[in-house]
Amino acid sequence: MTDHIQEARRILAVNDRGGYTVPTDRLYPFQWNWDSAFVAMGFALYDVDRAYRELERLAEGQWADGMIPHIVFHQPSDTYFPGPSVWRTKHGIPTSGITQPPVFAIALRQVHDAADEGARERTLALYLAALKWHRWWYAARDPEGTGLVALLHPWESGSDNSPAWDAAMARVPTTTTTPVVRKDIGHVHADMRPRDEDYRRFIHLVDTYADCDWNPAEQWVRAPFKVAEIQTTAILLKAGEDLEHLARLFGRTEEAEEIAAFNALSRKAILGQWRPALSRFVSRDLVSGADIEAATQAGFLPLLALDLEAAMASAAVAEMRRWSAGLKVAFPTTKPGLAAYEPKRYWRGPAWGIINWLLIEGLRRNGEGAFAEELRGSTLSAIEREGFAEYFDPETGEGCGGLGFSWTAAAYLWLKRGGR
Ligand code: GLC
Repeated sequence: MTDHIQEARRILAVNDRGGYTVPTDRLYPFQWNWDSAFVAMGFALYDVDRAYRELERLAEGQWADGMIPHIVFHQPSDTYFPGPSVWRTKHGIPTSGITQPPVFAIALRQVHDAADEGARERTLALYLAALKWHRWWYAARDPEGTGLVALLHPWESGSDNSPAWDAAMARVPTTTTTPVVRKDIGHVHADMRPRDEDYRRFIHLVDTYADCDWNPAEQWVRAPFKVAEIQTTAILLKAGEDLEHLARLFGRTEEAEEIAAFNALSRKAILGQWRPALSRFVSRDLVSGADIEAATQAGFLPLLALDLEAAMASAAVAEMRRWSAGLKVAFPTTKPGLAAYEPKRYWRGPAWGIINWLLIEGLRRNGEGAFAEELRGSTLSAIEREGFAEYFDPETGEGCGGLGFSWTAAAYLWLKRGGR
């Protein structure tokens, strides 16, 4: 075992708060939704029981309507804003009121595959939680049945301040009823974080939805930000495939058919978002009705969930190679050279281990193993050089943001063993 593997496991152990893992100490002191799904896949490689625990603790935060929130506040902490008093939700354990990319069922299948026969009941309970959540996505976030699910807050994308949201967020007022008391810039340099104005808009949305008592139908009507999003829908579809697999494994045929119908709908809808002139997929702004053409990593995420025609896959990969040319660490979350590109600012350029993980899976699925290997190699060496940073400056390779980051440790473990 190399030192880096030991170090990755040590980080996951240090960030353990009792069966769940915080993304990193202080900056993110609670349980985050998609972070935990990646972490569970990391644990599945050496501690299956702990992998199940991670998902079970996340599922404790599930709402009666099926939504699994983006943060579960298992215990208080004063190092993070916005905390429970800003969210004002009413669901047993305090949670945030929005969700995050549904990696959960992807993780569940991996954990189940790593477990022995005796774990069937444990998988089944989590399968039912995942099924409820997928139903919620299609009912609450795609009430018109388009196959693309919508986000009502940029944080739901996991790519908080991506340039993909700039135009839609410009319409969101900067007024808030909650005072904005940022804590993040006490932990990490402000140049690496979203701006104050972004934060006021983020909180304006929270205030608006808290005012709807977090009722999905009311939020849908009042949302000043509503984006049918390609990265989230691609993750939902891949998770849906894994969920359907589990349903069939358990002989739950009717549910398997229901999930297969969701999957077919989303598959068709995502394909409809391919733009040949851009060689990538695009999201749609449901308030303006326009395509979101901002050049971000999200445009390539559908490779994860689709088997593309060879010509389409190679066009996408040629474009990915153009974005990556000359960079020390791919894959950039914004196309280099654009005005919106900032190599150190969070989701506006930096490379992230977990995004690379998803892209690598997608490239392999589509027969693009060579580029997948390049990406895997550059991700592993960035981590070996700089440590388990939250993300990396693609030009210098510098590790940025928080350190000792759980999902970077999980990505390292996963990629080191070669991926799936
Ligand atoms: C930030 C990221 C989000 C992540 C969270 C915890 O909000 O944008 O994707 O889940 O931090 O790591």
